[in-house]
Amino acid sequence: MTTNNSPAPRNILVTSALPYANGSLHLGHLLEAIQTDIWVRFQQLRGNDCLYVCADDAHGTAIMLKAEQHGITSEQLIADVQAEHEKDYADFLVGFDNFHSTHSEENRHYSELIYRHLKEKGQIAEREITQLYDPEKNLFLADRYIKGTCPKCKSEDQYGDNCEVCGATYSPADLINPTSAISGATPVEKASTHYFFTLPNFTDMLKTWTRDGGLQAQVANKLNEWLDAGLQEWDISRDAPYFGFEIPGAPGKYFYVWLDAPIGYMASFQNYCDKQALNFDDYWGVEAKTELYHFIGKDIINFHGLFWPAMLETAGFKKPDGVYVHGFLTVNGKKMSKSRGTFITARNYLSYLGAEYLRYYFAGKLTGGIDDIDLNLEDFVQRVNSDLVGKVINIASRSAKFITKGNAGKLSDHIADQALWQKAVDAGHLIADYYETREYSKAMREIMLLADATNEYFDSQEPWKLAKQADQQQTVIDVCSLCINLFKAIITYLRPVLPETADKAAAFLNAPLSWEGDITPLLGHQIQTFKPMMKRIEMSQVTAMTEAQQAEIEAEQDNSPAKSTAQENYEPLADQIEYPDFAKLDLRIAKIISAQSVKGADKLLQLTLDIGFEKRQVFAGIKSAYSPEELEGKYTVMVANLAPRKMRFGVSEGMVLAAGPGGKDIWLLEPDQGAKPGMKVQ
Ligand code: 2FM
Ligand code: ZN
Repeated sequence: MTTNNSPAPRNILVTSALPYANGSLHLGHLLEAIQTDIWVRFQQLRGNDCLYVCADDAHGTAIMLKAEQHGITSEQLIADVQAEHEKDYADFLVGFDNFHSTHSEENRHYSELIYRHLKEKGQIAEREITQLYDPEKNLFLADRYIKGTCPKCKSEDQYGDNCEVCGATYSPADLINPTSAISGATPVEKASTHYFFTLPNFTDMLKTWTRDGGLQAQVANKLNEWLDAGLQEWDISRDAPYFGFEIPGAPGKYFYVWLDAPIGYMASFQNYCDKQALNFDDYWGVEAKTELYHFIGKDIINFHGLFWPAMLETAGFKKPDGVYVHGFLTVNGKKMSKSRGTFITARNYLSYLGAEYLRYYFAGKLTGGIDDIDLNLEDFVQRVNSDLVGKVINIASRSAKFITKGNAGKLSDHIADQALWQKAVDAGHLIADYYETREYSKAMREIMLLADATNEYFDSQEPWKLAKQADQQQTVIDVCSLCINLFKAIITYLRPVLPETADKAAAFLNAPLSWEGDITPLLGHQIQTFKPMMKRIEMSQVTAMTEAQQAEIEAEQDNSPAKSTAQENYEPLADQIEYPDFAKLDLRIAKIISAQSVKGADKLLQLTLDIGFEKRQVFAGIKSAYSPEELEGKYTVMVANLAPRKMRFGVSEGMVLAAGPGGKDIWLLEPDQGAKPGMKVQ
């Protein structure tokens, strides 16, 4: 008989809000995806069965108009955007089990099914309403597509139903000189039949559900304010033309995008079930024993806290066990916006910086509450460098060398300081509780306290001094082995946040990083040689990112046709590389101290280069442009960290960079008073 004291694994299904398929992801989207992904990875690490699904939110007028603007079909637009979104998420190490689309057969199925239930249970009301209509585009205009002069303060160019200048609220029909923001036409009033979900009938159910413990107190309070003020019926239909699903039995009427968006969670999961032969009802059936959580931002709590549970209740599905709401992302203390220069797309960030840096920074700021989170770029660089590189990775790098040198990579067979190790084990309980309750900032703080304690222990033991004393060799191994084990504990606790670095650490430790129960030490165990696991961030990477983002925004705004340059006179560009690829090049100023022809090679010159701290021999194909004596004393730029290449004539230890089309036109630098051999070229 085997005894097993650990609790049965939980079956959990988790979602993040579905991003609209009409634009690129920005760091605000990533705040949510990273928050969710950390939680999912934590659950998996603890041995729970936790699935994570998402999808693109692909319907609505905005998508239809954008596709039209680009001269492509809506289907083409959403396919392109979905591919981009999936790549962005993957590069931020967001590990969805499935990513789907609301424009899918599964979503049509569940949208129709849920609607049928609502209708059969008498929860769909039908009535005529009057709206503004664009007579040129033949389109009903949502409030945000109408602009005009404020009826109260007379400010021009006010959108929709409220004035940004004086704060007045009104009906868009009351705007003075209203125009359609789409065509510029003067809108007319037009009546049409709409379908409404009778939400007020669910007030009592929602009052109970919102107080059932699955919501944060602030969220439950907000929802109850709305419940107390009285709910309105919810208009779930839109008139053609609309990109979405036509309502069964109602030709020319479409489901409003927000009706089928949350149903997209189900659609993505159904799509996953079909691929994995799982049973959908085990997760969504009203009796399901599994747990269901939605991670969302605070701007969409009405949809997830009122409409969605009411729809699920009526259609006989399980309601979520929790809706976890986070605040907005600000950058350098300001709302993210293109005009403020605080907008950063996911891809632009990734072109300059590694995903794990941001994952750690967000983790260090996230709480279980709904306060906004600020990405302060200077603090970001400082925090990541000092915590991850300076504290955590440093433990492994400074301890490993004594184990590798002094004991051929074998760790001690006992724990040198049991109290310190127990402290790390006990910290694991607290850290796990913090992850579970999404108090990641507290979890990160505990982990860093452990890293501090480890570094202090190392410093107090002074193994570098002991290593010089013949009778202290075992102590050095014992001290450094404990530090390596503490590093193992720390990096295991960080694994939900830093999955890639944790993998590198597992390879170095030559052991899996599991955390199903208490963490365990490696005793008498062989580790691998330490290799650097994470680089420091340079402020210049951040500056390059913000400058590139600004340039991109300016280029977007400047749509003057004069900007397009004729490309036909140029070589086509090679495949794009990301900034980290470029940053790997170590470019140095090199002085050419001698140049000689190479026997048997028409194009080559053998150069001897001075790069300050050493001399290099390089074979360069520039003979057609320069005679050897012309080159001596000139400066060039060389790739100094290119692996040496064995050529027919000898070994080439780098490569010189010369600009120009080749042939006779290759340009080198003239000696410059400021340039010194060996200087790094940025
Ligand atoms: O607010 C948004 O960006 C929506 N696309 C979120 C949808 S979440 C879910 F309901 F689908
Ligand atoms: Zn006004």
